[in-house]
Amino acid sequence: MTRCLAAVVGGGVIGGGWAARFLLHGWDVNVVDPDPAAERKLNEVLTNARRSTPGLYEHELPAEGKLRFCSELRDAVAGANWIQESAPERLDLKQRLLADIQLHSDEDAVIGSSTSGFKPSELNQQLKRPQQLLVAHPFNPVYLLPLVELVGDSSTVARASEHLRGVGMFPLHVRQEIDAHIADRLLEAVWREGLWMINDGIATTEEIDDAIRYGFGLRWAQMGMFETYRVAGGEQGMAHFIAQFGPALKWPWTKLMDVPELNDSLIDAIATQSDQQSGQYSIRELERLRDDNLVSILRALKPRDWAAGQLLNRFDHRLAAELKPAADGPLISVRRVIPIDWTDYNGHMNESRYGQVFSDAADAVMAAVGADLDYVAGGNSYFTVENRIRYIEETCAGDSIVVRSQVLLGQGKKLRLLHEMCHADGRLLCTDEQMLIHVNLETRRSSEPTPEVLAAVEQLAAAHNGLPVPDYVGG
Ligand SMILES: NC(=O)c1ccc[n+]([C@@H]2O[C@H](COP(=O)([O-])OP(=O)(O)OC[C@H]3O[C@@H](n4cnc5c(N)ncnc54)[C@H](O)[C@@H]3O)[C@@H](O)[C@H]2O)c1
Repeated sequence: MTRCLAAVVGGGVIGGGWAARFLLHGWDVNVVDPDPAAERKLNEVLTNARRSTPGLYEHELPAEGKLRFCSELRDAVAGANWIQESAPERLDLKQRLLADIQLHSDEDAVIGSSTSGFKPSELNQQLKRPQQLLVAHPFNPVYLLPLVELVGDSSTVARASEHLRGVGMFPLHVRQEIDAHIADRLLEAVWREGLWMINDGIATTEEIDDAIRYGFGLRWAQMGMFETYRVAGGEQGMAHFIAQFGPALKWPWTKLMDVPELNDSLIDAIATQSDQQSGQYSIRELERLRDDNLVSILRALKPRDWAAGQLLNRFDHRLAAELKPAADGPLISVRRVIPIDWTDYNGHMNESRYGQVFSDAADAVMAAVGADLDYVAGGNSYFTVENRIRYIEETCAGDSIVVRSQVLLGQGKKLRLLHEMCHADGRLLCTDEQMLIHVNLETRRSSEPTPEVLAAVEQLAAAHNGLPVPDYVGG
């Protein structure tokens, strides 16, 4: 993957998240922020990001980039490919900062602003090259949530999108500039209603959050609004849904544009209820809880190749293409980080997940001999008939692992493999001797591989023939 340099101007909640996303996807990052506590806070965010983000993928991310704190803006932005302004939401401050950024940065650098609500035409007032600036509006935590709304010149948006896909994000081109873009416009409407319900004593902060997280929040995560309503219309679909609920839009179900006055008593009510709801956790604890939940939800969308899960799968293909086959020695069949959701009540990787790792290792060996997904679609495959797993050392969430796979026997229908799973620091964690048998998927019976696959199996077996076979094999 291309190694780039990003400059993050303003390293608070959002700037820190951007820095973590860029660094963990292999970019170098310069940060500038006048707050003396910025470095400490950003490093805490980075620690949280390191424990969650790599586990989104089934392959190892590129080596982490280098982080540098700069005291001067011009040092931070010089030579950067991407500059992300994430300073407080004040138009005059952003306009001045952006002009200063443009003065000291390369003409072909992308300048993004994280603004939640300002339009490019407001932000670029003091710029010599206004088309260089984009709104690049992300979501917290930026290191996990893929969406970034892009508003601005379409050729700059196209160039920026390529960069963002390279760090696993989903760029959404907002084709027409509006206040608050698409997502915050929606969120404002929902937030306004929540504030009214607290103001009118109808519900507490916790009850409102329960109404979201036990219900429509789960639907939104995988189908959004309109696809969900299409399904809710039953067999007659969207037309029926609109006929049924359309008239309600004119009933007093919402407060529409009215906003309750955010006076001291309303602010106090919200703060007190919020403390009762989650005051027992520190912000960093809540962030870790949130991250663990997000990783599990995002990973759960992968098997159906749906919504954000599809994006993760595509990024996995990108990472897999970077895997270099070993010139000699066993095949490197898996190189990944253990995700949070593979851990059990004993605080280590559950035994069932070792089966997953070795199944993935066998898939990689199959792909290496041409028995890939196209081969399977053509009616042939290998089935595992025996595993002998030896658990040597504990494996924990966040551990980087490598699996080396050696062909012990590749003859006719038989493929016997030895997988050794090691920690990135070299410790042997687990081994698996695995017997696979070639199968015809139509008859569901054992069969000979195609001549091409058989030749590739025999060639790999011959290449591995001289490798040492550990004493425990066959024991
Ligand atoms: N918090 C969110 O959920 C969220 C989501 C999306 C976008 N945004 C947008 O991101 C931007 C930053 O918001 P935040 O929540 O990270 O705020 P924040 O207060 O956490 O961070 C702002 C940072 O900017 C620094 N700063 C102030 N003046 C600066 C200057 N002259 N140069 C460099 N840094 C300076 C501050 O010290 C602070 O660390 C805003 O435009 C906001 O609308 C926020």
